[in-house]
This record gives sequence, structure tokens and C-alpha cells, in this order.
Amino acid sequence: MAELAVRGGAPVRPQGYPAWPVHDERDAEAAARVVRSGRWGGFPEPGPLAAEFAERFAAYQGSRHGVVMSNGTVTMEVALKALEIGWGDEVIVPALTFSATPYAAMAAGALPVFCDVAPDTLTIDPDQVEAAVTSRTRAIMPVHLGHQMADMDRVTEIARRHSLAVVEDCAHAHGQRWRDRGAGSFGEFGSFSHQSTKLLTAGEGGSLLTDQEQLARRAHSLIDCGRPKDPDEKQYTFGANYRLGELHAALLLLALERFPAQQAERAVAGRRFQELAAEVPGVRLLPPDPRISRWSFYRYILLIEPEAFAGAGNERVCEALEAEGVGAWVGYEPMSRYDLFQPALSRLPVAVEHASRLDPGTMSFPVAEDAALRRTVYLDENVFRAGQRGVEDAVEALAKVQRHADELAGGSS
Ligand SMILES: Cc1ncc(COP(=O)(O)O)c(C=O)c1O
Repeated sequence: MAELAVRGGAPVRPQGYPAWPVHDERDAEAAARVVRSGRWGGFPEPGPLAAEFAERFAAYQGSRHGVVMSNGTVTMEVALKALEIGWGDEVIVPALTFSATPYAAMAAGALPVFCDVAPDTLTIDPDQVEAAVTSRTRAIMPVHLGHQMADMDRVTEIARRHSLAVVEDCAHAHGQRWRDRGAGSFGEFGSFSHQSTKLLTAGEGGSLLTDQEQLARRAHSLIDCGRPKDPDEKQYTFGANYRLGELHAALLLLALERFPAQQAERAVAGRRFQELAAEVPGVRLLPPDPRISRWSFYRYILLIEPEAFAGAGNERVCEALEAEGVGAWVGYEPMSRYDLFQPALSRLPVAVEHASRLDPGTMSFPVAEDAALRRTVYLDENVFRAGQRGVEDAVEALAKVQRHADELAGGSS
């Protein structure tokens, strides 16, 4: 008889993990208050609740200004446009991230130039960044992936030396701190997503943080159809409506109140998980960079060795973990797999001299490809919101899948 739940055996955790997002009557009341107020939208921009959330969240991350908008993709597009980055410019992006990061560069009119990631963190490899800089490079967009942060010491140093802007993609990094400085506060802009799975959510939404008042004003203008936000400034030609409504802002304010306790709980559980999971054969942990001084993670990313799982890759292992009751996902594909970024498929008007930098035939990211296509397992945040037992069950599920990996019939996947 099969042992693994994916083959009909009894699951390790039939009750699953706590639901996300967390909510209670206060959220319903806050939404009802907005409805009754008649002030639903984001116009005039910003709405009062949007402004209150933006200020509080910026202060929590340690930035001077916050601008909220409709999601964590347009945040990055707006950041680049506010920096006047566009046609003919290059923006350096890691080869392992959600498509939103390079998409934002393209939406601003710039060319994303991909760099492989570092094997110990799966975040952008600073040596590759250094090698990718050309006279056209204008910005670096590090992504704080999973439970890690990009090496902000090296990224900011390279940016300073080459006079490049830094736009941090912090969609996974609400609450993270590097050497006691908040994610999103290192460069010109920090971008956060408030989409439904993210750590600070209203279902949809995004925050852009900056220390520079003028950049904040430009961002406000760009998301408000180009309306001038400063008496001395003219109307922006490329402004669009990316405003966030007040219903979302009301929910974000409550989410922010709950956030510090959730962050602390996940950090404790994450450390316990690492101690226990270190004993599971075939599992490689990527401990958080020691310079991360407050650990706040969206997904915990571990690597499996397919050889220790009877040749099964991350896809089969994630299926098996899900069946055991543990939320697990293989994660993002490497950028060399995305049609969107391949000129031959996307019909992107890429200048010939640039073409080889986006050509799938020449794009090669050995670290990102090996990790993403065979090894990465992203564990859901709720595994770390279920006490000691929640973590023990997740480790038992991993160990069980490894012990009975022969039931995951077939070669690698
Ligand atoms: C790394 C990363 N960047 C950007 C985004 C885009 O955020 P949004 O879905 O709010 O547009 C996401 C998530 O969706 C993400 O995971």
C-alpha cells in the first residue's frame, strides 16, 4: 500500500494551515465605513486613507515618502518613468523573479538586461551585475526573493560607482531589514506589492517608497493622469490612472496593524524549521544572509537534490507536499524560458546591437536554470503561522516524501 498522500496514503497534515489573508469583523467595519462615507475612489489623489497608509508604511520601512497605487507592477514602471528612464536605456534585472520586474522596465520603454543569481541566495549576483553594466545602463532592480535579500552592500556600491539608480523590488520583503535598514529604503525607490498572497495585502495594491520628495511628487503625478503635484511642475504627458481606491487603503491600514506580530511569529518558526529541516536527506537550505537584521519572509525557498528523491524534481516533490497538506510551489521560471522576453516570439522591437542580450539562444543563466527547473521548493508563509507543530509537520512531510520517493514514479520533472 502506498504511503505518500499523493498516491492515496494518509496525509501528514490533513487539517492544512491557517487561511490567508487574516481578517475579522474590524475589516468588515472598516470597509462599511468607507462605503457609508461615499468617498470610495482614489480621486482626488491620494485619498485620505491612502495617504494615511502610505505615511505609516513608509515610516515602518524607514523611508520618507510613500505613494500607493493599484499594484506592485505599475509601482516599478512608475519608478522608472519618474527617474526618466525609457527608450534606449538598459535596466539590470535578475534572471529569477516574477515577470513583473522586467515587464516594468519594458513598460517604461527600457530594455531589461538579465543577470544570473547567486547560488547561496538566488538573488541577483553582484559580479554579474558588474559585468552587465554598459554606457546605456541606467538602473539596477534587485529583487528580494523568497526569504532572502539581495546583497544591498554590493548593489548600492556598484550603483554609486557607475551613477546608476536602484529600484528595489520588495514584493516579497515587507518588514525585511538589512543591517537595520528597511527593504525599499536603499535606492531611489522601493516597490511593494499588496496583491492577495503577499505579506501585507488588501487583495490588490502597491506601494512605492522613496526618500526624495521630488521623486514622490512625480510618482503621484504619473499615477494621477499626469496632474501636476507641484505648482512649479508641468503636466506629465505619460500619466495614467493607477490610483488605489479607499476600500483597499482601509484594509491595508488594518493589515499593517497586524503585520509586526505575524512577522515575529514567522521569524521564530522559520528558525525552528531550519534546525529541523537540516536533518532531512536531500534537502539543501539557504540560510538567510546574516546581514538581514529583521527577518520577514513571504515564501521560504529550499532546494532539493533530485538524486535523493529517486530522481524526482521539484514539480513532483511539490505535488507530493501539497497532498500531505503543506503548501508548496516550484516558483518562477528562469527568464530564459519566458516568451515575453524573447524577441523572436514577442516581436519586441529590439535594436540589433541589443538583440543578442535578449536572444534565447544566447541567454544562459546556469544557476537560475538549475535551481528553478529542478530544485526550488517555495513553502507557503502559512506554514510558519501554525506554531511549533506547524513547522514539525512540514518537516515530517518533507522527510516522508524523501523516504518514499520511489513512489514518485518516473524520472526527473
Ligand atoms: C517579485 C515580484 N515582483 C512584482 C510582483 C508584482 O506585484 P503585483 O501582483 O501586485 O502586480 C510580484 C507579485 O505578484 C512579485 O512576486
